[in-house]
Amino acid sequence: MSSIVGIDLGTSTSEIAVLKDGKPFVIPNDLGEFITPSVVGLDDDGRIIAGRQARDQLLLKPDNTVIEVKRLMGSDTTVTMGGKEYTPQQISSYILSYLLACAGKYLGEKIERAVITVPAYFSDWQRRATVEAGQLAGIKVERIINEPTAAALDYGLEHLQECRNILIYDLGGGTLDVTVLEMFEGVLDVKASSGNNQLGGKDFDRRLMNYLLDRFTAKWQVDLSEDKRALMRLKEAVEKCKIALSEHEEYQLIIPFFTTSGGNPVSLEETVSRELFESLIKDLIDSTAEQINAALADAQLSAADIDLILLVGGSTRIPYVRRFIEKALGQSPQALVDPDLAVVRGAAVQAGIINNDLSPEKDIIITDVCPYTLGISVLDFVGGFPVTDAYDVIIPRNVTIPVVKEKIYGTVADNQTQVEINIYQGENRKASQNNFLGKFMLKGIPPAPAFQEKISVSFAYDLNGILQVEGKIISTGKKANLVIETTGAKMQKEVDLDGWEKAPHARKYKAILRKAARMVESGKAGYYAIEMESLMRKIKEGLVLGETKETLDAWKEELHEIIYELTEESDV
Ligand SMILES: Nc1ncnc2c1ncn2[C@@H]1O[C@H](COP(=O)(O)OP(=O)(O)OP(=O)(O)O)[C@@H](O)[C@H]1O
Ligand SMILES: [Mg+2]
Repeated sequence: MSSIVGIDLGTSTSEIAVLKDGKPFVIPNDLGEFITPSVVGLDDDGRIIAGRQARDQLLLKPDNTVIEVKRLMGSDTTVTMGGKEYTPQQISSYILSYLLACAGKYLGEKIERAVITVPAYFSDWQRRATVEAGQLAGIKVERIINEPTAAALDYGLEHLQECRNILIYDLGGGTLDVTVLEMFEGVLDVKASSGNNQLGGKDFDRRLMNYLLDRFTAKWQVDLSEDKRALMRLKEAVEKCKIALSEHEEYQLIIPFFTTSGGNPVSLEETVSRELFESLIKDLIDSTAEQINAALADAQLSAADIDLILLVGGSTRIPYVRRFIEKALGQSPQALVDPDLAVVRGAAVQAGIINNDLSPEKDIIITDVCPYTLGISVLDFVGGFPVTDAYDVIIPRNVTIPVVKEKIYGTVADNQTQVEINIYQGENRKASQNNFLGKFMLKGIPPAPAFQEKISVSFAYDLNGILQVEGKIISTGKKANLVIETTGAKMQKEVDLDGWEKAPHARKYKAILRKAARMVESGKAGYYAIEMESLMRKIKEGLVLGETKETLDAWKEELHEIIYELTEESDV
């Protein structure tokens, strides 16, 4: 039977593996590397390149090279390469195509099916975008599985007899996931996942970069905000420095001919100690206690109930991360899985399960959860008074998947003939304070007095973590369901952003949005343009959709940080 491969499509790096003789085997790329940079570029002939070759041209051709596209998956932000626009799905599909071509050559067969991993905390949109990337790469995505769950499968396959509570802490280039699971005689039962889609190594790089830029501009009074190449060189040097500090107490960071001042070349030279670096990132890592506590609480376990902590993701090599975990959970994590390859190995195990490639004595079963609460907006009556915008939960977070839940609702007005079903993800009791996922109209309700006609709404959350919603008029059996289109452009149409200025709290965000737009237009945003545009869009969309003030302020703060960093220098 043809192989199904497992693919870890990461923010910084990607890997591909297959089950061979009952064991996961990571397939090297055509350069013999097991780990491929998640970088895509255009070469001199305008051909798409991916992996190391694209990574190597990053400094020379920043305008023709795209990095860290995973953080944009599921959004409608596009990236520009060689003056042409690409969706995040397209860019991801080039990474997939490259991995698939390498694996196909290595295995001597055309690969047509794959299991792809995503962060457990990836939303519906982000998952759909990942499936689309697979389709664009010409394969059938057999299953989307959660990265920490994959890591657990890798561990579980070798430890089938154990009974333990396991906590997996996965901190990669761009995302954090915390997953708690129970392992019992070959059954891996995920109890709860929590996470942050926007936290990882790239944020630690950014912190160190800001620190160095501040010092450099103070010293030399130069404006680097438009020098894309200098910023890229700095980003690269900073990552090297960060990685070195995981082993060494101190690192000498030198960038020769970094820029010019008064016509003379100046280099950037700094000694960075581990202690200094830790002080710059400490708050980010400490903040992950929130996800650890949330996952434990949902699993109804305490730190003392955890028998084993597994660390996954390149960023868990940072010594401070280990110290933090020890403090937070009162025990040391164990080096029982390969932090770089556990996810892809687990994806290969899942592929093997689907393809019936595992021998019977290696029987392993895995269950997973939906980490989010999902529901719809309804008109509720509290003490006899109508409350609009109430959020009615249909699938509570961390229930085992696949799951189908149905609820029955009544019409609220006499002779009501249609109902709009708005779907949200989140925990807030006010529907509009949660993430809006989509909506549809159910028409043709027979005219009748209020409350008489009944409508059922069913949510089906499948093994891939993808939601299907259906509404049905019970008396007639007429159905309607939400068809979510994956391409960002269609999402854009749904939300009319033109009206953002009329949103209730818009005033508070106007100035910063204007400023950011000016910087992007004038080219001042340089390397940060994509990120700034994505944040600007998020804020506008958030205003229109009634996102919480907390979230809006967090995005504003992120935008502010970037602007601050870019203007600081030119204002000196
Ligand atoms: N020794 C190290 N010390 C500190 N950070 C490291 C080390 N090695 C790698 N990293 C960082 O780990 C990150 C990459 O990790 P990994 O490959 O697990 O992430 P990813 O799978 O690409 O991302 P994600 O899972 O978030 O999508 C990068 O930010 C990299 O700088
Ligand atoms: Mg990863």
